[in-house]
Amino acid sequence: MENEYLTNLKEKIENRLYMLLSPRGRLYDKVVEAANYSVSNGGKRIRPILLLEFYKLCGGDDDCAYNFACALEMIHTYSLIHDDLPSMDNDDYRRGKPSCHKQYGEGMALLAGDGLLTEAFSVAAKTLSLPYERVCKCIEILANNAGFDGMVGGQVIDTECEPTDNVDVLLNMYDLKTSHLIRSASTIGATLAGADDEIIAAADKYGYNLGIAFQLIDDILDTTGDFSKLGKPIGSDEKNDKNTAVKLLGVEKCRELAKEYTENALSALDSIEGDKTVLIEITNKLLARDY
Ligand code: IPE
Ligand code: IPE
Ligand code: MG
Ligand code: MG
Ligand code: MG
Repeated sequence: MENEYLTNLKEKIENRLYMLLSPRGRLYDKVVEAANYSVSNGGKRIRPILLLEFYKLCGGDDDCAYNFACALEMIHTYSLIHDDLPSMDNDDYRRGKPSCHKQYGEGMALLAGDGLLTEAFSVAAKTLSLPYERVCKCIEILANNAGFDGMVGGQVIDTECEPTDNVDVLLNMYDLKTSHLIRSASTIGATLAGADDEIIAAADKYGYNLGIAFQLIDDILDTTGDFSKLGKPIGSDEKNDKNTAVKLLGVEKCRELAKEYTENALSALDSIEGDKTVLIEITNKLLARDY
């Protein structure tokens, strides 16, 4: 997916994440080590990259959005640690390594997730150089998109839902469990930069559509992907008898749908002025990805 620009951006995000999560000789450092283990290596960092690119597109020309970018990646990583637990998807690999609970045990994996979620808000709140109204608004966006009415709610539908042949039920689940964190990336980027409501709405529309396309491709890769590229088990959804669009509609129809949602995401960008080259490139590459 990467060119030099994105590689550098990713490196900058990762360096900051490692700094935030470095063990410091504390009695309880094992939990920090477990969090750091799951945050390290192998992630695409798509959410922090999108957040920073929306900040830039909407006029941000400094490094002030990095704390929110890291906070979002921390929340996303917590969601992955918990998603892999035996009581959820029961998956043994993540980002090319044993899952957090395989490496550190279930209790420590739960706590590493809890710690990442909590510390994320501390990191975000340390955005001291931007107007505090914007920072408070973004903390609210982050919490709402991650919480009951966002990712957590989507994970509940994912784990509890009876078999369905209703595409709208699936799309609602995809929006909650996946689009909501991606929507927080685009809207927080825009909000931190001081964009107006119309632009923020376009950013949200982009995030919604990209998120649906993203989960459709994730479900396709769960059936057709390659473990060595994906870094997580293939066939997890079938093993868990999950409701997925692939199960309901088949791979080809899902590819068509992913393309449609990607086009919708790109047309949402049309209403925002500025240089969108990088965002367009990322959006297209996510559709064609094999990891
Ligand atoms: C995986 O997200 C979870 C989904 C929402 C499908 P990513 O595919 O972004 O995982 P990483 O961060 O690259 O590991
Ligand atoms: C997970 O969806 C979405 C989250 C909120 C973590 P999946 O369960 O399909 O994600 P993967 O395939 O394990 O990454
Ligand atoms: Mg899951
Ligand atoms: Mg999973
Ligand atoms: Mg999946």
